[in-house]
Amino acid sequence: MGLLLPILLSFLAALIGGLYLLGVFRQRRPGEPPLDKGLIPWLGHVLEFRRNTLKFLQRMKQKHGDVFTIQLGGFYVTFLQDPLSFGALVKESRDKLDFNKFAEHLVRRVFGYSAIENDHHILNVSSNRHLKGEGLEVMTQAMMSNLQNLMLHNMGSDQRAWREDSLFAYSYNIVFRAGYLSLYGNEAQESNLGEEKAKEQDRAESEALFYEFRKYDQLFPNLAYGVLTPRKKREADRLLAYFWNTLSVEKMRTKDNISRWVWDMQQAKTEAGMNDSMINRYMFVLLWASQGNTGPSAFWLLLFLMKHPEAMTAVKEEVDRVVKESGQEVRRGGPIVDLTREMLLKTPILDSAVEETLRLTAAPLLTRAVLQDMTLKMADGREYFIRQGDRMAVFPYIAVHIDPEIHPDPHSFKYDRFLNPDGTKKTEFYKAGKRVKYYTMPWGAGVSMCPGRFFATNELKQFVFLMLLYFDFELKNPDEKIPEIDFRRWGFGSMQPDRDVQFRYRLRY
Ligand code: HEM
Ligand SMILES: *[C@@H]1O[C@H](CO)[C@@H](O)[C@H](O)[C@H]1NC(C)=O
Ligand SMILES: *[C@@H]1O[C@H](CO)[C@@H](O)[C@H](O)[C@H]1NC(C)=O
Ligand SMILES: *[C@@H]1O[C@H](CO)[C@@H](O)[C@H](O)[C@H]1NC(C)=O
Repeated sequence: MGLLLPILLSFLAALIGGLYLLGVFRQRRPGEPPLDKGLIPWLGHVLEFRRNTLKFLQRMKQKHGDVFTIQLGGFYVTFLQDPLSFGALVKESRDKLDFNKFAEHLVRRVFGYSAIENDHHILNVSSNRHLKGEGLEVMTQAMMSNLQNLMLHNMGSDQRAWREDSLFAYSYNIVFRAGYLSLYGNEAQESNLGEEKAKEQDRAESEALFYEFRKYDQLFPNLAYGVLTPRKKREADRLLAYFWNTLSVEKMRTKDNISRWVWDMQQAKTEAGMNDSMINRYMFVLLWASQGNTGPSAFWLLLFLMKHPEAMTAVKEEVDRVVKESGQEVRRGGPIVDLTREMLLKTPILDSAVEETLRLTAAPLLTRAVLQDMTLKMADGREYFIRQGDRMAVFPYIAVHIDPEIHPDPHSFKYDRFLNPDGTKKTEFYKAGKRVKYYTMPWGAGVSMCPGRFFATNELKQFVFLMLLYFDFELKNPDEKIPEIDFRRWGFGSMQPDRDVQFRYRLRY
């Protein structure tokens, strides 16, 4: 007995400690949001959350209202779903709510990249310089030149017959490859090969990269949740090694036209003491962030235009007007239209159509780590106590994008939803009589807001311009229904359709 008692006691202590770690004893304290731990210890609601984030969060909102804490795989996450109170999360000081720690953890696990101290600062500086304002002008030109290479390289030949393709595959392919070439540079024109050969190599190389990228893209949701089968995990590792090699600093040094955005970050990281093999890994993080969303958005934009003839007509008229006002014209044998950034600033109708597309199809999940105990102050005066070590999250798709009070008839595509009657950009939206500042959030908000948003918008607009100016295109089946959103991707940025749609296109000139 003298021997057994300590063993028994330590067993009991371990059991209680284990149960504690599993979160079994956590209780809602006074002043805290409703707590929903789910039925499974530690895992909590993670299975239902992963299966269909949108449906699960809608159920929780119905049950608990617009603030609630749920257990998800060892974390307690407080969801804030009142858009009028988003400022409390977006503007809270960084000693209380932190984005970096959370992001670094994810990036290490999914991309094998270990962040350094001033990573986020380096990204911010380079993005401010090269992805907005004057820097954006250079990027826009590069994008135009690459889009032309990919879309119009056989113009003037006798290939004016109709071609059939899948719209998602086509849009994603073109926008990914042009974006990639604009950021990571073109094949150098060696004197003996010449320009045509270099352009042909750009087309071939970017095609090969896209092919592998799509494989990784499809593994991504399960990879991020850490539930890949061992075979799929090996496939993901193989793909990572391929990307690190293809995007390596060493290969990049042989390229022309590498963007300053990428170049400056490489330099800054080298100066901060990071070795090339780690920088190579970062190059893929950037490829992922910059190319995974714009292509899918381009698909939805074209599809919505094709399904809504009044929208297509309005956008086409605007595009034709802007080209005409620039003194250019599209004609057989003539020069390709030089689509400047200045022209892209004169398109309120297309801007509205882009914003409406993102409202319906961009669904990021914004997450912050809670570094200190804090009080969440809601717009209506309610206050909630939030514990250190928890997380806070916002899913704007439910809270704003499809809220019928903010956006009436929220599931319909209305190309002019973001236009005032006088044709200017509409920015006033209301809920319960109060102005809603965050009336769409496709880019996130606050410290982690997408630094590529101006470039991304330009990419989408350039793609639509070229499609409208140089191609006839139509759905193979005009009665085709708009596909559903692939529910496994809720929370991962731009949504993808659950099936592709056939269309045909042909060069007009
Ligand atoms: C339609 C296209 C795009 C959408 C919907 C989109 C959306 C987003 C969102 C929601 C975030 C924030 C994620 C978070 O808070 O956790 C983000 C981050 C980011 N985006 Fe985009 N993005 C797009 C295109 C681009 C492009 C074209 C680039 C670069 C040229 C880019 C570069 C980045 C980077 C580097 C981050 C990480 C920011 C950070 O760590 O603070 N994105 N994007
Ligand atoms: C570099 O970009 C310019 C336009 O921005 C383009 O005319 C040129 O062909 C590009 N260089 C290569 C090697 O493709
Ligand atoms: C590069 O740096 C990382 C992390 O600092 C380290 O783990 C790795 O071994 C280094 N690689 C080389 C080739 O030096
Ligand atoms: C990024 O830079 C801008 C402009 O310099 C600054 O206002 C902003 O606070 C910076 N953001 C972060 C997250 O460092």
